[in-house]
Amino acid sequence: MSKILVTSALPYVNNVPHLGTMVCVFSADVYTRFLRLKGENVISVLGTDEHGTTAEVKAIEEGVTPRELVDKYFKIHKEIYDWFECDFDCFGRTSSEANKDVTIDIFQKLDKNGYIVEQELEQTYCRKCDKFLADRFVIGECPHCGYPEARGDQCESCSKLLNAIELKNPKCSICGTAPEIKKSRHLFIDLPKLEPKLVEWMDKVKAGWSHNARSMSEAWLKEGLTLRCITRDLKWGIPVPKEGYENKVFYSWFDAPIGYIGITKECKKDWKDWWLNPDTRLVQFMGKDNIPFHTILFPSFLIGTGDPYVLVSGLSVNEYLNYEGGMFSKSRGIGVFGDSAMETGIKADIWRYYVMAARPEKSDSEFTWKDFQAKTNNELVANIGNLTNRTLTFINRFYDNKIGAADEAFFEKLREAEKRVGGLLDKIELRDALKEIMLIGKMGNQYFQENEPWKHKKKAAQVLAVLANLVKDISIMIAPYMPEAAKNIQKQLNLKDLTWDDLGQITLKEGHEIKQAKIIFNKIEDKELDEFETKYGSKSKAFPLNLKVAKILKAEPVGDKLMKLEVDIGEKRQIVAGIKPFYSAEELVGKNIVVVANLKPAKLKGLVSKGMLLAAGDDARLLTAPNSMPGDPIYIDGLENKTDQISIHEFSKVKLVTKDHKVEHDGKFLKTDKEEVQVEAEDGKTVA
Ligand code: 2FM
Ligand code: ZN
Repeated sequence: MSKILVTSALPYVNNVPHLGTMVCVFSADVYTRFLRLKGENVISVLGTDEHGTTAEVKAIEEGVTPRELVDKYFKIHKEIYDWFECDFDCFGRTSSEANKDVTIDIFQKLDKNGYIVEQELEQTYCRKCDKFLADRFVIGECPHCGYPEARGDQCESCSKLLNAIELKNPKCSICGTAPEIKKSRHLFIDLPKLEPKLVEWMDKVKAGWSHNARSMSEAWLKEGLTLRCITRDLKWGIPVPKEGYENKVFYSWFDAPIGYIGITKECKKDWKDWWLNPDTRLVQFMGKDNIPFHTILFPSFLIGTGDPYVLVSGLSVNEYLNYEGGMFSKSRGIGVFGDSAMETGIKADIWRYYVMAARPEKSDSEFTWKDFQAKTNNELVANIGNLTNRTLTFINRFYDNKIGAADEAFFEKLREAEKRVGGLLDKIELRDALKEIMLIGKMGNQYFQENEPWKHKKKAAQVLAVLANLVKDISIMIAPYMPEAAKNIQKQLNLKDLTWDDLGQITLKEGHEIKQAKIIFNKIEDKELDEFETKYGSKSKAFPLNLKVAKILKAEPVGDKLMKLEVDIGEKRQIVAGIKPFYSAEELVGKNIVVVANLKPAKLKGLVSKGMLLAAGDDARLLTAPNSMPGDPIYIDGLENKTDQISIHEFSKVKLVTKDHKVEHDGKFLKTDKEEVQVEAEDGKTVA
């Protein structure tokens, strides 16, 4: 029997996973459960991506070894996925012995087949720490402005981007010793040489990929493949088995996808029957940022070995799930994290339902607490929950728990809808399939209403028999999404372990005795929602300002005080500010300043100002973000930017003060994703 291997992108292990991470994990789990219900020979593989600089740096931050760090977070990840009922056949880690074996084997075959080349790179090296230093771990004098404490990737004072080797009097930021410049040899995979084979394979399979996967992969090829470095001067990772490479490890994007194989090896003796078998179909779930790693790099690693490895045929790529108008962010602590979801007391099934109903299948989608409540109450509770409960309660009360003979006319319509569900699931359109299931629930509720079983007792027995069978079918179809609810419904119906074959069958025949009806889903009350929003959501963590980086395009003096500016904040805006006494128009144009984008428009001297620029002190020192892009959001760690319009009065309540040439709010600095906001003003000046 042919095999199906399902994988979900391996989440980075250095943080607690949030709902955004779950999109991919739940999707793979739902699809696998569907295949299992159909009796397919399937296994699913998940685990954690544990190597790389991020893990090493996070370990330094937490004062533990990388091994201790990944052990700690591996456990957290595992617990969270288990709690969410993610039933992966194999759950492992890229730092396992098994993955080391597979990675080394694949590397050695690539090398033997002539697909690995060596090249030399110049890097900073600390003799005392015995470490090649990533640029940001070197501190020294900025070659541009002379600032003595500049970081090797960027000078905080003049904001110029740097290379660590340009710093004067450089020091290792870990131990303070002067680093040396050392040449370091690295290994590269020769993608150009592999390209013909890759293209030949891709042309055969890409028709079955989602649109975004195909177009991004084609774009990569069109740009031309280049050598890719697969080694790093780090200690934490899989050692490179080659002379002269004793102090190097593989780049984590080399051993991470190989991890799918390593994890299978870790858990299954017959792993080769899965990965080296022409009868296996590989289906991979991932977010859109992972596409080229799965369509170009990973297949190249495998093709280059010459071994008959299974290459991806089904690709399900999701877009992003956003959070309350912004992005989920691990580093900033924004979003619903696995551990908070567990704490709410809301069942895993409901979270699974929500994430799948809001699955960013073809475009980005958004989690909001309000929508979460609405979907739970109006869809799950009011539709499926209600239908099940009233059908069963009627049978309990009026028919001594016994099913009657069914009125079969209704079934035809139902069968068609059920076929559509199966078809959508086959195509991995999980969100649409779920919608269709909810429509079936609606059909059931309508049928109930129309036939008024509380009035026409005679016909009621038939009607309820239909409904009970419909509820049974729903329990099968929702099983991949909400396994616990499915089990629960089947238990109440006095049935067990139904499979996809039981769908559309009149399993509940005349005389079958059911059990007592019980509530399946609970509503989320307003009071509870309020609690969640305060505890985990935006209510406690709001920053009322929507600050953006603005590039000044034009500046024109108006009278002796005002300057009329045209700025780009991702869109063009006119801003009028009282800075004429301090700056000339020429000085302003081209600067990246900071504006409050959600301030109610105001009129100054008859000119409309849509927003306000921020400056500090009596001489209006401008806040700047020179290395960011126009429109980049500016935020405070852990706080979510509100986009609602605010008045100048509300603005004046937000405290922003200068410190160390930066801007502080509540002990944290304003920043973009690229840098901290700067200002050339003394400490303690108010920003307005
Ligand atoms: O983007 C990420 O979260 C990566 N850790 C995904 C790795 S997928 C696979 F290659 F392991
Ligand atoms: Zn050092």
